[in-house]
Amino acid sequence: LLTGLGAAGIAGAAGAAGLATGGLIERETTAQGDTARELSLGRSAPEEGRPPALLTPTPAHVHVVAVDLRAERPEQVSQQARTVLRLWGEQARGLHEHGLAEIVEGAPTQGLRPASLGITLGLGASLLERAGLAERRPEPLADLPEFASDHLDPALCGGDLMLHVGAEDPLVVSAVVEHLLGIAREQALVRWSLPGFQRAAATAADPSATPRNLMGQVDGTVNPHPDQAQFGPQVLAAHPDGAASWMDGGTYVVVRRIRMLLDDWFDLEPHQRERVVGRRLSDGAPLGGDREDALPDLAARGDDGEPVIAANAHIRLASPERTLGARMLRRGFSYDLGWSGGRREAGLLFTAWQADPRTGFTAVQRELDEGGDALNTYIRHEGSAVFAVPPVRENQPHPAHDLW
Ligand code: HEM
Repeated sequence: LLTGLGAAGIAGAAGAAGLATGGLIERETTAQGDTARELSLGRSAPEEGRPPALLTPTPAHVHVVAVDLRAERPEQVSQQARTVLRLWGEQARGLHEHGLAEIVEGAPTQGLRPASLGITLGLGASLLERAGLAERRPEPLADLPEFASDHLDPALCGGDLMLHVGAEDPLVVSAVVEHLLGIAREQALVRWSLPGFQRAAATAADPSATPRNLMGQVDGTVNPHPDQAQFGPQVLAAHPDGAASWMDGGTYVVVRRIRMLLDDWFDLEPHQRERVVGRRLSDGAPLGGDREDALPDLAARGDDGEPVIAANAHIRLASPERTLGARMLRRGFSYDLGWSGGRREAGLLFTAWQADPRTGFTAVQRELDEGGDALNTYIRHEGSAVFAVPPVRENQPHPAHDLW
């Protein structure tokens, strides 16, 4: 099980392997091997109703696919939604338990381990609208407002349903996406999709360290942790009763496709790149701080009288001080689609999971927008969507069963 793997387990295994000569290398190799093995062996069963996408550690590969249902008339849209959710819900259960090769003869994943496969499903506001279920729409499930820094392409936005597949092995992700879309071909049409990745546990010197994005920054430091008391209120939706109770204990995910202008970024000197975000490149420590988990001192000024963390630095504008405690669980993955028409297609597959996007993503993005985030020069928000991710309930055919 994914969550069974803690830093203590890794450290314990590493400690036991220390040798007098070359001990450091031996320890590191063992820790990496241990984590990599756990992740590639792992089976992901949803825990406490939480969708696999919320479990830690995060897998090395994900693919987020948004589909639209083919039908037009409300009762047919509703019928198709139920069919697709039931098919995917049932398959997810079997795939989590057995893997694809045991379910589909001739699957590309034959001979592969479960790879911590996790399948998470979401519903878009357009689905409820089109299926005649508008009165069951929870208020947090709404289109995001427009932001001044948006460069959105409608073809990369929205969607009736979301399929989020994660695993430690890219072949497992690819084959499972193919399989799930294949069985829903009659009902669902892909609207947009984006595969993402992060460093593999096997190559990380410290597999428990916060990963880096394609700009080279340590990304994901300030995040609610599943074992903290505020994780629930910040990340999980509360709709104890009423029309939206089908989402009680679920979460809302904002997905943004954010292209990075990497040539421009790497033209900057390292100290200029650090100024943009307000953290050190070497270890992710806030400027003026001594370690990654140090609290940023937003009041500190240098000898020149200027703020140590610049007025338009990303972490200053995104900090809870500015956003009145707005919080979300940020799970960033990189994407790299090479070059298209001579243009570099790489960046951040940004996913943010929260109890309510209005007090989570939107509150922060508004500050980044209005405060003139220094990062905006080097990024382009090109795709955007919001999905309701219902809690996984063991005895139901699919997570949104209570909606009907
Ligand atoms: C912090 C990078 C977009 C919200 C950070 C940090 C980095 C970073 C390096 C510091 C380390 C950390 O705490 O994770 C980026 C990049 C982006 C991006 C490269 C786009 C390509 C966004 C967006 C949002 C966001 C769209 C939300 C609207 C935050 C928040 C923090 C943060 C809330 C923590 C701030 C704090 O309290 O210290 N980001 N980010 N970021 N970012 Fe972003």
